[in-house]
Amino acid sequence: MALLDRAIARVLPAVPKPLVRALASPYIAGPTLEDAVAVVRRLNGEEKLATIDVLGEEITNDDEAREIARAYHRVLARVEGEQLDANISVKLTGLGLGLDYALCRENLQSLIEDARARGNFVRIDMEDSSTTDDTLRLYRELRAAGYANLGVVLQARLRRTLGDAHGLENVRLCKGIYLEPPEIAYEDPDEIRESFRATLRALLDDRSYVGIATHDEELIEDALAQIRARNLAPTKYEFQMLLGVRSARGDELVHAGHRLRIYVPFGTHWYEYSVRRLQENPKIAGYVAADTVRRLARR
Ligand code: FDA
Repeated sequence: MALLDRAIARVLPAVPKPLVRALASPYIAGPTLEDAVAVVRRLNGEEKLATIDVLGEEITNDDEAREIARAYHRVLARVEGEQLDANISVKLTGLGLGLDYALCRENLQSLIEDARARGNFVRIDMEDSSTTDDTLRLYRELRAAGYANLGVVLQARLRRTLGDAHGLENVRLCKGIYLEPPEIAYEDPDEIRESFRATLRALLDDRSYVGIATHDEELIEDALAQIRARNLAPTKYEFQMLLGVRSARGDELVHAGHRLRIYVPFGTHWYEYSVRRLQENPKIAGYVAADTVRRLARR
């Protein structure tokens, strides 16, 4: 399977755009904010919360970074206007991290302030390991400056993660999508799982609010056991899943009384996003292929 996965990821750039679009469509709300609003409204109707991601391509100058920030301001205004239960997830490189730390901080701060004024929240997605230090630094600086409506992400794949977990008030914990060199990252799936479990334990010991972001049944079961053992109220944590992935399991979590937040990406850069994500983690290409075969078989 691994070989097939890798082969699928490698040929993806040669796959016709409409096919990639069809493959990626269950995971993306659509090209417009309107599409995202419609998806979030449906999710909220199913008692699921959302976090909205504006798909952006790599930026090359300050104006592009400011334009992405403006797009997120429009999302925040729309979420409030429509009374949706959704926050936003931002990528710091999109806000200018690769160009200038100060520009990125300025863009992020304007979003946190806007979100705070609207009673909303900003999650900083975690990107590849070249950004980990700056991302944690920005999170800590802005939390220390009094912004309580800001959260960050930790990736269990990275060997450093358990060490990073201390003192973070609001964390999404995931495995990590970026393939990193073995010196800094676990490669064995069981080691990644063990790192996830240990980091979750450390975060809960620290009384952090954790977004448990996984579709891996083993990790969901472990999280449920940790939650039960600590007798945690459902307001003290949440589960998180990607749009279009394991939605039936998501329904079960909601019906059992847990909070569940769905990651909802939208935007015109769906193609670049899809290809990059599929290539970043060849395993996912395998899921997508298997899922497509299943869908076709059902017709
Ligand atoms: P795993 O990959 O083992 O998947 C478990 C099972 O879920 C699979 O067996 C399959 O059934 C199903 N599945 C998973 N992905 C699927 C897909 N795309 N299509 C169909 N089925 C699928 N990463 C990162 O580096 N930085 C970040 O900021 C974030 N943010 C983030 C937010 C949220 C809400 C989620 C859920 C995930 C992320 N991620 C992320 C991605 C994360 O790091 C990881 O790559 C994926 O969640 C897949 O890992 P799982 O833990 O789900 O396990």
